[in-house]
Amino acid sequence: MPAKTVSPKTRSYKIAVIPGDGTGPEVVREGLKVLAAAAGKYGFKYAATSFDFGGDRYLRTKEVLPKSAVKDLQKFDAIYLGAIGHPEVKPGILEKGILLRLRFDLDQYINLRPVRLYDERFCPIKNKKPADIDFVVVRENSEGLYKGLGEFRNKGKKNEVAIQISHNTRKGVERCLRYAFELAQKRKRKQLTLCGKTNVLTYAFDLWERTFHEVGKEYPDVKREYTHVDATTMWFVKNPEWFDVIVTDNMFGDIITDLGAMIQGGMGIAAGGNINPEGVSMFEPIGGSAPKYTGKNVINPLAAVCAVSMLLAQLGESAAAQKVEEAVISVVRNKLKSLAAGQMGYSTQEVGDLVVNAL
Ligand code: IPM
Ligand code: MN
Repeated sequence: MPAKTVSPKTRSYKIAVIPGDGTGPEVVREGLKVLAAAAGKYGFKYAATSFDFGGDRYLRTKEVLPKSAVKDLQKFDAIYLGAIGHPEVKPGILEKGILLRLRFDLDQYINLRPVRLYDERFCPIKNKKPADIDFVVVRENSEGLYKGLGEFRNKGKKNEVAIQISHNTRKGVERCLRYAFELAQKRKRKQLTLCGKTNVLTYAFDLWERTFHEVGKEYPDVKREYTHVDATTMWFVKNPEWFDVIVTDNMFGDIITDLGAMIQGGMGIAAGGNINPEGVSMFEPIGGSAPKYTGKNVINPLAAVCAVSMLLAQLGESAAAQKVEEAVISVVRNKLKSLAAGQMGYSTQEVGDLVVNAL
């Protein structure tokens, strides 16, 4: 893995942009508008290079990703992704062939998903304030059930068996836990919760739990907690204020972060980072391609703008990152009627403009 080419002195970044499918290009356009404004205000430079990966390209060329894609993307300081998923392409082809492939081949072993409620009006849970919903999920992003290990036996027959294996390595688990401990240590509450299923998945989460406590000894100031994944979904709704940093495997992380997105106000505001701390990271709104809203200028671009904020933080532009998030918060609190597509009281482009003005 080549070292990151970012030099803190030059503050000049190469950013790969993959607008992708559906509403991806619309929200990415707004995100890039905000990025341009942030660059002007905070004095960094960047060059954005667009890649046409996605459903349209696949339908045209029959190729999911060109062979050179991973090598090409490794030359960048960060990747900004809109959405992957096309109504005319069988589910799984693009998701596995583009999104998961990039996560794996670029070894983006952390999927970082902040869950923050910006305005209580948009929380589906009664009486929860922004201070109650402010946590981060650290999802392992390179192993587990996503590894794709398994087989069919007697496929199509009455005695068919389908086996899908969760693959967890000590190395993969440990580097994920370390990232989570480091993150928890930097936060005010310094609490890390392992979300697992030690009562049933007695191989996988035995490894996770042992490693959690072993690594945890190196972070004595971080308080260690544990919850089963089923109980975690209950606490997300009942007492989300209990969480600070949550670390979990790939599959559980996928599931609980959709719930997390809902309690923070919906897919319109939820962003995530696929992070390789030693390599190239990729930032995306987590809502998907939303074919229903494509081309209508009604989708909420704020998740994509939040992804820009995360991208800036990863590049080390923390002042700009923070300011972009603050601008989003002020637009959410002072302007929007809703975070849902078509109900914001503004168009996609207008919401982008509001963020730029708030900067
Ligand atoms: C996500 C998505 C992906 C995942 C899909 C599209 C493969 O749901 O980023 O959470 O399962 O990781
Ligand atoms: Mn998901």
